[in-house]
Amino acid sequence: MVASLQGWYGRKALALSGYGETKNAEENGMRVTICIGSACHLKGSRQIIEKLQRLVAENGLADKVDLNGAFCSGNCDHGVCVTVDGELYSLKPEDTEAFFENEIKGRL
Ligand code: FES
Repeated sequence: MVASLQGWYGRKALALSGYGETKNAEENGMRVTICIGSACHLKGSRQIIEKLQRLVAENGLADKVDLNGAFCSGNCDHGVCVTVDGELYSLKPEDTEAFFENEIKGRL
């Protein structure tokens, strides 16, 4: 599941390789990072990751969207901490489809 460690905002981020993402996206595409810290895990980060992986694959965006996991960034107060190119969002699993349409697909 975890193939490599990468720097991200001074923290370690886990690349979610093995889920269909491509190396091209790591270099050129949109970087989407989902917190896998314990608080976000309890709020559904796993479901969000699985939904985003499916949506990225179904929309043929694996070469444009780089999905990553990250440890706690201290933004645990609301939903699951997700960033898009460094911009912070707070998600519930049930909001993932709308988030994908508006903030990922809608920006490409
Ligand atoms: S556990 Fe996700 S931001 Fe803290």
